[in-house]
Amino acid sequence: MKNFPPKPWVLPQPVLIIGTYDKDGRPNAMNAAWGGTWDMKEVSISLGSHATTDNLDLHGEFTLTFATAETLVASDFVGIVSARKDPDKIAKTGWNVVKAEHVNAPVFTDFPLTMECKVKETLNRDKAGYMLIGEVVNIVCDEKYLAADGQPDVEKMNLICYDPVHYGYIQLGKKVGQAFADGKKI
Ligand SMILES: Cc1cc2nc3c(=O)[nH]c(=O)nc-3n(C[C@H](O)[C@H](O)[C@H](O)COP(=O)(O)O)c2cc1C
Repeated sequence: MKNFPPKPWVLPQPVLIIGTYDKDGRPNAMNAAWGGTWDMKEVSISLGSHATTDNLDLHGEFTLTFATAETLVASDFVGIVSARKDPDKIAKTGWNVVKAEHVNAPVFTDFPLTMECKVKETLNRDKAGYMLIGEVVNIVCDEKYLAADGQPDVEKMNLICYDPVHYGYIQLGKKVGQAFADGKKI
């Protein structure tokens, strides 16, 4: 085995897209890999200081969606370019934007599934950013990504994850097992 110093190498990482409105109601989005589930109805995301955090502090509401192979290039773009420097950022993605029904934040309908969230609290806040805890108040899924049982079908979504070692995006593959079941074979 080869040893490495500590690095942010939790594997794999999600490619989260956080949607917010600015003070003039213009939509924004940023890419975040350092996030995940915090509790049954809560998410956590480690955030630096961004146009997105300005918007979160202003409205306290956001959407969270999950990047796909089809949205990869623009998802990376919103992770490279800040709305602080380019107010035309979202127009350049080509994404379709509608207002979320339950929160004051944009839904980008090019993505299969979107969580509508409210800021519940922020932890370890300083000039460099904070840990965002969000409460999920609703989830919308494009009907073409539903399974026969009416639940979202993750396999249909072409989701990508982030490889923090080589800075790659990797598309999820096939289902290979059943959780809380396959382990019973032992
Ligand atoms: C793959 C990837 C992952 C990222 N993960 C995070 C993250 O977890 N937290 C964070 O604060 N910024 C993260 N960023 C950087 C922001 O997305 C980036 O600074 C963005 O331009 C902020 O946009 P805004 O200023 O318009 O809100 C990531 C960027 C990329 C490309």
